[in-house]
Amino acid sequence: MTELKLSETRDLTRIERVGAHSHIRGLGLDSSLEPRAVSEGMVGQVSARKAAGVILQMIKDGKIAGRAVLLAGQPGTGKTAIAMGMAKSLGLETPFAMIAGSELFSLEMSKTEALTQAFRKAIGVRIKEETEVIEGEVVEVQIDRPAVAGAAAKTGKLTLKSTEMETVYDLGAKMIEAIGKEKVTSGDVIAIDKASGKITKLGRSFSRSRDFDAMGPQVKFVQCPDGELQKRKEVVHCVTLHEIDVINSRTQGFLALFTGDTGEIRAEVREQIDTKVAEWKEEGKAEIVPGVLFIDEVHMLDIECFSFLNRALENEMSPILVVATNRGITTIRGTNYKSPHGIPIDLLDRLLIISTQPYTEDEIRKILDIRCQEEDVDMSEGAKHLLTKIGVETSLRYAIHLITAAALACQKRKGKTVELDDINRVYNLFLDVKRSTQYLMEYQSQYMFSETGEVDEDDTNAMVQ
Ligand SMILES: Nc1ncnc2c1ncn2[C@@H]1O[C@H](COP(=O)(O)OP(=O)(O)OP(=O)(O)O)[C@@H](O)[C@H]1O
Ligand SMILES: [Mg+2]
Repeated sequence: MTELKLSETRDLTRIERVGAHSHIRGLGLDSSLEPRAVSEGMVGQVSARKAAGVILQMIKDGKIAGRAVLLAGQPGTGKTAIAMGMAKSLGLETPFAMIAGSELFSLEMSKTEALTQAFRKAIGVRIKEETEVIEGEVVEVQIDRPAVAGAAAKTGKLTLKSTEMETVYDLGAKMIEAIGKEKVTSGDVIAIDKASGKITKLGRSFSRSRDFDAMGPQVKFVQCPDGELQKRKEVVHCVTLHEIDVINSRTQGFLALFTGDTGEIRAEVREQIDTKVAEWKEEGKAEIVPGVLFIDEVHMLDIECFSFLNRALENEMSPILVVATNRGITTIRGTNYKSPHGIPIDLLDRLLIISTQPYTEDEIRKILDIRCQEEDVDMSEGAKHLLTKIGVETSLRYAIHLITAAALACQKRKGKTVELDDINRVYNLFLDVKRSTQYLMEYQSQYMFSETGEVDEDDTNAMVQ
C-alpha cells in the first residue's frame, strides 16, 4: 500500500487570543435554572451560579430596577468568571457594562460623572421605527449611458417582481450609483429603503440556484418575496442611553463614541434625553431595556462613590448592579472606618450577597482540564494529576498559568504531550506566592526598604485563610 501524505493545513480562522476567562461561555444552567456540574466552561460553584441564574432571570424579565448584588469570596474563586458567564448568557440585546473600581480614578473626569456614564452604558433603549421598503427579486437592470460622457445624467430602469406582481421603476442618478456599488444583477433579491434610498442585498433567488456552481459557496439563497412589492417594515435599533448622550452632547457627535473622548456630559443634555425617551416610551416607539453594570474590585471605590451608588440605585431607570470583591473586613477608602468588604453598611444593606467558595480538588482538576482544551495543550494523566496537586497547594490561578509555561517547555524539547517533567521544570522556574514569600523572609535584609517588619494592612486583608 502506498502511503498517502496529507499536506498539513492550518486553521487560520482561530486567531483570537486566549484570555483568562475565554473558556467561560455562560453560567451552565438548565432551563429550570439548576446548574449542571460542568457546562459552558463552568465548573462547580453551584450555589453561587444558581443565585446568579435567579438574578439573570430578574434581568431578563426587565421589570425590576435598582437591585444590586455583591459577589464576595476569596481570590480566584470565580467571581469575575461568574460575572462573565452572566454577560454571555444575556445575549447581545441586553447591555452589559463592565468597569473595574480603580478605573474611575484614572479617567479625565469626575468620579461621579464616570459612574453616571457607566450606569447609562448599562441601560438600553430599543427604538422601533416603521419604514417603507420595496422588496423584490430583480428581473432586469437596464442602465442607459449617454453617448457623450457627461452630456446628460444616466438614466435607467429596474424591474422588480414578487410572487404576485412585477413593476418597472425609473432610476435616478443616485439609485444607479447605489446599484452599481452593491453590484446588483438580475436574480438578486433586494430591499430598497424608500426614505433613504439605501439598497440592501438580501441574497440570490432560489430560482437561480442552478447558477450555484458559478457563484461559489458564500452566496445565500432566499425565497422570492411574496405579496406586494411595497411593504411597511418595522426596524428595531438598540442603543444605550450613554450612546444617545454622546451623540447629542458634542459637536463631533458619534465620532466621540469611537475615540472614547466623551468628556463630561452636561446634566441638561441628559435631562432632555430622559424626557425624550420617556415620550417615545409613551408613544410606544421605544422600550427601555435595563441591563447590568458590573463593577469589579468594588473595594477600590471611595466613600463618595459609595454614597453616589446608594442614590443611583433608587432611580427608576437604574440597571441591575453587580459588584465583586475579595476583601474581608477592611477600611473604607476615603475614611478611617472599617467595614465588611470595605463597603459602608448602608450600601451593604441594599445588596444581595452571593458568596463563592474555594474549589475542591476534583473541581480544580476539571477547570484545569477545560483550560488545557482552551489552550490546545495535550497533557498526560500524570502531569494533570501533579498540576491539580499544585493547584490545591498553591492557587488555581498559579496552576492555570503553569499550563502555558509547561506547554512551552514541552515544545522546546519537541514533545507533543506535556509530561510530569515539564510541569516539574516550570514549577521550579516560576515561584508561587508562598515560595516567593518564604524566599523573601530568608533574604529580606538584602532588599531595599525592608527595615520594618510591618506589612501594609490593606494588602493583608484579602480574604485569605
Ligand atoms: N467555576 C469555574 N469554572 C471554570 N473556570 C473558573 C471557575 N472559577 C474560576 N475559574 C477560572 O479561574 C480563574 C480565576 O477566577 P476569577 O478570575 O474569576 O477569580 P476571582 O474570584 O475574580 O478572583 P479575584 O478576587 O482575585 O478577582 C479564571 O481564569 C477563571 O476563568
Ligand atoms: Mg476578579
